[in-house]
Amino acid sequence: MEFQSLFAKLIADYRINARFLPWRTSRDPYQIWVSEVILQQTKVLQGQDYFMTFLRYFPDVFSLADAPEDQVLKVWEGLGYYSRAINMHHSAKFIVEQLKGRFPDDFDGIRKLKGVGDYTAAAISSIAFDLPHAAVDGNVKRVASRLFGIREPIDKPAGVKQITELLNEIIQYYSPGEFNQAIMELGALICTPKNPDCRRCPMQEHCFAFANNLQKSLPVVTPKKKPVNMHIEFLFLESKGKTWLHKRDKNGIWKGLFEFPAKIVNHLSETPPVWMMEFLDNSDVSKVLGHRDYVHKLTHRTIFARFWHLSGKPSNIVKQNQTYTELKTTEISGFPVHRLMLKYLGDNRMI
Ligand code: ADE
Repeated sequence: MEFQSLFAKLIADYRINARFLPWRTSRDPYQIWVSEVILQQTKVLQGQDYFMTFLRYFPDVFSLADAPEDQVLKVWEGLGYYSRAINMHHSAKFIVEQLKGRFPDDFDGIRKLKGVGDYTAAAISSIAFDLPHAAVDGNVKRVASRLFGIREPIDKPAGVKQITELLNEIIQYYSPGEFNQAIMELGALICTPKNPDCRRCPMQEHCFAFANNLQKSLPVVTPKKKPVNMHIEFLFLESKGKTWLHKRDKNGIWKGLFEFPAKIVNHLSETPPVWMMEFLDNSDVSKVLGHRDYVHKLTHRTIFARFWHLSGKPSNIVKQNQTYTELKTTEISGFPVHRLMLKYLGDNRMI
């Protein structure tokens, strides 16, 4: 089969059946960029709402560049992988200050933006600028591996390279944005990881895995490492309607987000942990109002968290350290916090 016609049926099918997704009506590179960064680690269903909200707050690169970082994080709140938001904010400033607000319009220029890898650069250049770069994400890797019988593990550079080179050859014969999105769509809806719906697949007659009944063995993926267990204790300290939040630094997880004073420990303590004492003024009597436990799963970590709710005067450590912010407890919803904090605040009826 010639490359010119190999994907014809899929593209025709895509034109008729493509899901209506809010970014698909746009060719604005800024909007495509926002959608692709959101979709890097977020499912399409959840991504749509965030996409709409993000554009309502930051309709163009200038409004994003002008916004304070805490506002960008607030809008991103709950999506996870917060460095995506911080990198976009950084790149928006770069585009405004260095490129006079003009979004880069070729692959290399787009690829240079912070937080933009090969996949995202290819997606933006193909969808917004019609440039022939195959956007190789997880869906596309799975489809290509099955379709062409590629046995290199798709999570290793050699596998990605083989798939990218092959698709870059083929994409030239098609409308690039349509080609990439049609394959993504096939991977999302039909050529799924488990139980692909081969009967409905427009690529069925060309598919190596279907012909050889290898849908279950392709793609080859290297086994994942088990998530590491981690224990964290949080201190929700209240005094006269005030509480204290700590702003995390730019390293590690939950970059730049706020949380209650916290400590990583080996085991969760059954009584208020000793480390909390340094946050309390010991001339005052403090009271334990309760605690709540959560198990929070991230990709590489399973977090066992215990939130202690105490009332009592804070020590000078909390008052004088720049990384702690004093606020009214009722104003906590104005601060960007991570999902684990959101769970606790929600259960405590604080947001
Ligand atoms: N996943 C990543 N990019 C996408 C897009 N443009 N459409 C649908 N799913 C996607």
